[in-house]
Parts: sequence; structure tokens; C-alpha cells
Amino acid sequence: RSKTPPPLSAKDPSSFAYPTMKDRIPVILSKIVDHLTRQKGVIVQEYGGEAAREELKALIGAISELRHSVMTNKPAKPLRDSRRDALLWNAELARQINLKQEEEETCSRDESEQSLRWFDDAWLWMECYLYRRVQEASLMCSLLKGFDVFAQQKQDAFKSAYKSMSQLTMYLQEVISKFKGQVPESEVRECFKEFLQVSLWGNKCDLSISAGQVMTHDHNPMAQLSLLKHRLMVDDTNAAYGILSKAAEVKERKARVDIVLDNAGFELVTDLCFAEFLITSGLASQIVFHAKSMPWFVSDVTLEDWDWTLNNMKRMNHIAISELCQRWQAYLQAKTWIVEAHDFWIMPNTYNEMHNVSPDLFNRLSESDFIIFKGDLNYRKLVSDRQWDPTTSFERALRGFHPAPLCSLRTLKCDCVVGLEPGQSQAAENEDVNWMIGGDWAVISACQRRDS
Ligand code: F6P
Ligand code: MG
Repeated sequence: RSKTPPPLSAKDPSSFAYPTMKDRIPVILSKIVDHLTRQKGVIVQEYGGEAAREELKALIGAISELRHSVMTNKPAKPLRDSRRDALLWNAELARQINLKQEEEETCSRDESEQSLRWFDDAWLWMECYLYRRVQEASLMCSLLKGFDVFAQQKQDAFKSAYKSMSQLTMYLQEVISKFKGQVPESEVRECFKEFLQVSLWGNKCDLSISAGQVMTHDHNPMAQLSLLKHRLMVDDTNAAYGILSKAAEVKERKARVDIVLDNAGFELVTDLCFAEFLITSGLASQIVFHAKSMPWFVSDVTLEDWDWTLNNMKRMNHIAISELCQRWQAYLQAKTWIVEAHDFWIMPNTYNEMHNVSPDLFNRLSESDFIIFKGDLNYRKLVSDRQWDPTTSFERALRGFHPAPLCSLRTLKCDCVVGLEPGQSQAAENEDVNWMIGGDWAVISACQRRDS
């Protein structure tokens, strides 16, 4: 077996890591500063008046300093806040520094040299650290403690998706009515494919790739599927359906599906609709959703975003949307749906490290019959964000991570992909030079059993 390739890093100017550090991240941070500066009056009023003004000033200062630190490639510093994960992060930073020194066989005496740097070290690690530092800035406040600097962007993105949401939920209502009667197996399979793929393409719209630019969604998400078909480079839909229908059969319609969520806004709505279909069709009897325990990669779903989304959907003047939402709130009460947020999801570790770092989460996932990982960041963590040859198998790239049968639904937003046929990457490159980074190409990669 060949050696595991090195991680992606901004030290390679031809990697997408480089423009991410150089351009995209500074823009994301500037947008936070702009937003906080423009909304100063509203925030100060909402969070306790004049005392909050001083805190907001400090928060803006910390974000500006962070931006400067990235742009000038400063060393990573230990976290200073007292949130429960800060110690873990600091231990992980120390471990990485040690590993780096062992590799380089150097032992510099200059303390500032002994750290990781934005442009020199693993992109995935540094990018996760960046979002943790953004949260540190708000955790250091007392009135503004835990303030979500991305909340407004997420809420605007949700509102801009009204038309697509309307079409999708009305279609789902039709499907629910149809499934009240007997439905042939071929139709269950067809609907599964539709909702799975709508949830996949929902991942096109995260706010970190567009540096916070909200896109309007007024297309019909079902009609889009056939147009996007040839951009689906790996399509394990049938394997995913096979795993689930088998589990449903063996467990007499008592299968559990876990969905590791990615973005709030339209993507979350597509995930909720997919989850509804799984319950309606009997392919699953319980869904466990995994959200983030803090604001993450601009648009990832936190528990607060989850509540905000459901509360807003319920209040919408749209019969399909509000009825579905009532149904979902009943699922939550009955624990047919569960939503939880483990801190492992906001650590920089790749998923092959989960059983060591967070055995409780690994065991929890092992109880599932099928785990669905949404989006680009989850994919990067599944395959360790390495410079894999694209024809490497998905099983191999998981490096032993297999709590249960699993599947990744991911639009490509970084230069790391596996499971392709020889020649496939070249063909995509000929058609679209940005195929790896634009979110316009996708994979549905399933893994039924562990790579031995
Ligand atoms: O790769 C580009 C990027 O912006 C990364 O920062 C991150 O991994 C990802 O895209 C975010 O996308 P998603 O929301 O699909 O995880
Ligand atoms: Mg995301």
C-alpha cells in the first residue's frame, strides 16, 4: 500500500489553500468588521447599552488583529477563553507543534518559531483554528459572550431562498400524500434519489465559498437535477439506497439515520425535506441530526440556527412550509428526530482520529444504520484533506474511519477528491477549469464496509 500523501497547505501556491488564505479569509474577516461597525447601534442597544459598546469595540479590534495575523503569516497562539474545548484545542496545538518539530528534526529556541503558521501548515487545521479564533473574540466578551458574528448572513441567505423552498416543500407535500397509499418499490427508489440529490446540490450554497455573498435561489430544485446530472462525478445513489432499504427490512422499519449537517439556509431546508422523506417512506424511523456547537465556516448550522429556522418556517405565510414545520416539531417532541451538537465537530481533527479523540461520539455514530455527511468540509475531514491521487478509492481515503455504513454528499469546493475513474478529472478540467473549487461538480460517495 502506498504512503498517505501530505495534507493540502497554503505553502503550495497552486493549491486552493493559497488563495483561501491570501484572499478569501481576509474578505470574510473584513465583512465581519463591516457588519459589526454598521450594526453598532442595534447591537449595543440589544446587548445592554453603553457597556456593550466597549465590548463591541474590543470584538472588532480582535477580528481586525486576526485578519492582520493571517495576512502577515503570524504564528498560531493558544486560545485564551475558558470555553470547555479551549484546553483540548491548546493540547492539540501543542501536539501539532511537536509533530512538526519531529518531522523537521529542529528544536528552535525562539518560542514564536515553534508554532504553526497560516501559510506554512495544514490548511484544514489552520482554517478550523481561524473559525475558533473568531469565536474566541466573542467569548472574551461578557455581555456579547458567544455572539454569532455570522447570524445575519445566515438569516439573509435563508430569506433569499424563499422561492426554491416553496417549490420543494409543495412537492414534498404531494409525495407525503401519495405515500399514504401503497407505493411501488420503484417509486420509493426514485423519490429517494430525488430527495438525496436535492440535498446534495443544496450544498452549492454555503457562505464561506462565496465569501459571504448571498445568492438568490429561485430555481425549481427538482427540475435542476437532470441539468446537473453530468456534473455528478461519483454517483453511489444506488448503493446508498441498497444499504438503507436493507437496514429498514432487517430492522422491520426501525432503522436510524444520522445526518451530519453542513450549512444553514436553503441547504438545511433540503436536508429537512430529505429527512422527512426517509420517515414518510419508512426507510428510517429515527433521524439524528448533528449540528455545530458554535458558529463555524460562516454558514454551518448551529443549534441556534436550527431553532431560528424552524421558528421562522412555522410563522411563514405558506401552507406547505408551515404545515411541514409543525410536523417536524412533533417529530422533535417524540424524539423521532433528535438534534445534537458535539464539540468534536468544531475541532480540527480528521475523522479517522475520532475514535481516539472523542470515543463517545464514535460510539454514538456506531449505533446508526447509515450516516450521511453533508458538504465539503465534512468530506475534507473524512478523507483527511490530503493530496490524494483522484483515483484512490473512497474506502482507502477514509483511513479506517467506519463507525457504520456511511455516505458523503458533497459539492466540490477544494482541490481534494477521490473515487474517480482514470481520465475523469482530465475530462472535467477540459470542460471547467474550476471544477474542483466552484461547487458546480459533486460526488455521492458511499462506503458500506471498512477498508481492510
Ligand atoms: O474549500 C473551500 C471552502 O470554503 C472551505 O473553506 C470549506 O471546506 C468549504 O469550502 C465550505 O464548504 P461546505 O460548507 O460545503 O463545507
Ligand atoms: Mg459549511
